[in-house]
Amino acid sequence: MAEVAKLIIDGKEYELPVITGSEGEKAIDIGKLRQVTGHITIDPAFMNSGSCYSSIAFIDGEKGILRYRGVPIEELAEHSNFVETAFLLIYGHLPTKQERQKFSTGLTRHSIIHEDMKNFFNGYPSSAHPMAILSAMVGALSAYYPNVTSADVTAEEMDENYVRLLSKVRTIAAASYKKSIGQPILYPRNDLSYCANFLHMMFAVPAEPYVVDEDVVKALNLLLIVHADHEQNCSTSTVRIVGSSRANVYASVSAGICALWGPLHGGANQEVIEMLQKIHDEKIPVSKVVADAKDKNSTFRLMGFGHRVYKNFDPRAKILKASCDKILSKMGIHDPLLDIAKELEEAALKDSYFVERKLYPNVDFYSGILYRAMGVPTNMFTVMFAIGRLPGWIAHYKELRADANAKIERPRQIYTGNTLTHYVPIDKR
Ligand code: ACO
Repeated sequence: MAEVAKLIIDGKEYELPVITGSEGEKAIDIGKLRQVTGHITIDPAFMNSGSCYSSIAFIDGEKGILRYRGVPIEELAEHSNFVETAFLLIYGHLPTKQERQKFSTGLTRHSIIHEDMKNFFNGYPSSAHPMAILSAMVGALSAYYPNVTSADVTAEEMDENYVRLLSKVRTIAAASYKKSIGQPILYPRNDLSYCANFLHMMFAVPAEPYVVDEDVVKALNLLLIVHADHEQNCSTSTVRIVGSSRANVYASVSAGICALWGPLHGGANQEVIEMLQKIHDEKIPVSKVVADAKDKNSTFRLMGFGHRVYKNFDPRAKILKASCDKILSKMGIHDPLLDIAKELEEAALKDSYFVERKLYPNVDFYSGILYRAMGVPTNMFTVMFAIGRLPGWIAHYKELRADANAKIERPRQIYTGNTLTHYVPIDKR
């Protein structure tokens, strides 16, 4: 017999279907609740609400599990690269050799941004945050590829737009950095892999040969893989909500980039390094930092700690912490901020405040140390997150648009304002 939940309102009993996901997750289907009972549910910040069915990523926050299309993040981190992982997320399976070749060729072919778009970069002050530039430029791509707004756009044309977006985001990100340091914007090189090409556009200078460091390429692949999807997080849900109005993929992803920017989400990676740097420069004892983070009269939080879903450990943080040691020692770098981060983690994990609230380092806690080692400036960290998260955003947009029954997403509210209040002319107020 199908499982049901029973709800009693004013003595009247209602049966609600219980849904079970492929990993055994349970949900109470309230799709007809208002129609049948006249009530809605209220769940600020969606702490308990599923917004969709999705087959892209699975997270078990209690056990610290993250899988993309069923494949554990640890296996992808060890054996895959970013391009293959992006294909897996977007198309639902690991690519064959031919599929991967075609996908890589597409990424190479679409890497150049329209020459006219270069003018936009000149309009920004050199102090502009690269996330401001990235979100605007990604939205602007829809002006250059207008078939995305057409109701007749074919699946092949959409696939081309997904590849285009994945490829150009790198070029835009690197160009915004070059602009900020007053160097000429570099063209991509077709002989380089996805990550190597990005590093070339970021760090090469026209007058000098640029040698791609394979250790850095490997580290970048790893970083992008662990960021590639995370089911219904703030930015991905934003992409889905915007996409549900049938807004085009560039507009929807641009909105996701803006959502990612906030310090409680992807912006935390920049905040972590700034926090560690301050602790280092001002020689603040770790015990004081932990005490400040616990102080309810202070707004300070231990950045890079805590997660809405992970209540045991964040597997991405575990992977990155291990890589920090390996990659930094291979590069011959000793970063005092890594020592502080480890000390901070140890102190927090022993503290009852953090233990009781199940607060653990999240993906942003160690990612910045790796970006620093690669030479990426702090204000580009969230841009790096955006490049990594792009396959996930695209996969969710694609999944949503493929659902013939998808409706525009539109929550309800409980109104708490004035009841009927009549207009009073200004001279009588
Ligand atoms: N430092 C100190 N206290 C914290 C922290 C922290 N980093 N995170 C949560 N808490 C405390 C809260 O004050 C709250 O305490 P209370 O129960 O006494 O009121 C309790 O832990 C629960 O925290 P909430 O904010 O209610 O948890 P929520 O799920 O809403 O927030 C979030 C999760 C935003 C990640 C939060 O832990 C946080 O602000 N962390 C720091 C920012 C950060 O690292 N963000 C990146 C997240 S990962 C990502 O987006 C990629």
